[in-house]
Amino acid sequence: MISDYSQRLIVQEVSPRDGLQIEPRWIETADKIALIDQLSLAGFSRIEAGSFVSPKAIPALRDGEEVFTGIKRQPGVIYVALVPNLKGAQRAVQAFADELNLVMSASQTHNRANMRMSCEQSLLAFGDVAAMARGTSLRLNGSIATTFGCPFEGSISEDRVCEIVEAYLELGMTGITLADTTGMANPRQVSRIVERVLTQVPASALTLHFHNTRGLGLCNVLAAYEAGARRFDASLGGLGGCPFAPGASGNICTEDLVNLCDEMGIETGIDLSLLLALSRTLPSLLGHELPGQVVKAGRNRDLHAVPADLIA
Ligand code: COA
Ligand code: ZN
Repeated sequence: MISDYSQRLIVQEVSPRDGLQIEPRWIETADKIALIDQLSLAGFSRIEAGSFVSPKAIPALRDGEEVFTGIKRQPGVIYVALVPNLKGAQRAVQAFADELNLVMSASQTHNRANMRMSCEQSLLAFGDVAAMARGTSLRLNGSIATTFGCPFEGSISEDRVCEIVEAYLELGMTGITLADTTGMANPRQVSRIVERVLTQVPASALTLHFHNTRGLGLCNVLAAYEAGARRFDASLGGLGGCPFAPGASGNICTEDLVNLCDEMGIETGIDLSLLLALSRTLPSLLGHELPGQVVKAGRNRDLHAVPADLIA
């Protein structure tokens, strides 16, 4: 374990994808674009801006083309698209996505529920995507959903996770994401798996994706950071969840994560004031309250007026 907090923590904002995919209310394309354009000004180097999946599976994100071609791209920001297969990859490339995030679950059952395929079929599809990307500047990231546990199968073997990492690397993927789809990870497990996977990929290529389903999201971030991980997915307001995983709930909340880092002196390069202002616009956009806590409590330094009887 290290206690050196001088190394930057990179946050990839995923609210436009993981956040909006589970929302029951239709969010207008223009509102999605406006959200992404604001996020682009907050200092993120990576934003997952949507997905190119079956519109029957995820109707909320069926306007991926319009969103990707409508946003104002900021230099230095990588705009990522989640895709499940070659058709999704072709759509994403036509919409000028910079990076494709290919997702498969470690668990066969969750992969079948989510992607309607066996893991072997997903890997074959990723082979087609890798062949398409070869010789181009397109980046490929491979996500392993249910890395830390599956809501259908329970425990997932760590060897299996490492084998999938190996398979992804052989396909030429330059980034790997370990995803805790339904918040089953705990900090000791996270340290162990991160240490193991960091023998396969450098920290600059590894992302951790936590959901706060059981309240352990930020504990898991710290455990992963202390084990050497540097990149984390998070979602504005704590939105998010997989519609094909029972009990799924929001990602770790971006502004709560950035606040944690600010308080601990871990640099993120992200403007917390801008995030909090943006987070305050979400309840009216989505029609419900969100789980984020700092937006409700305020920052430590947002002091309150001293009670009048004390002043007298
Ligand atoms: N984008 C748009 N349409 C797609 C598509 C894609 N990436 N992939 C397949 N389709 C279409 C097919 O063209 C076909 O259309 P048709 O009915 O008009 O002929 C239809 O979807 C069914 O195709 P098929 O290959 O049989 O897909 P499926 O029904 O077995 O579903 C997936 C497989 C992967 C496409 C679907 O399960 C999916 O999109 N899952 C993603 C779920 C998700 O995003 N989860 C959250 C993120 S982890
Ligand atoms: Zn997720």
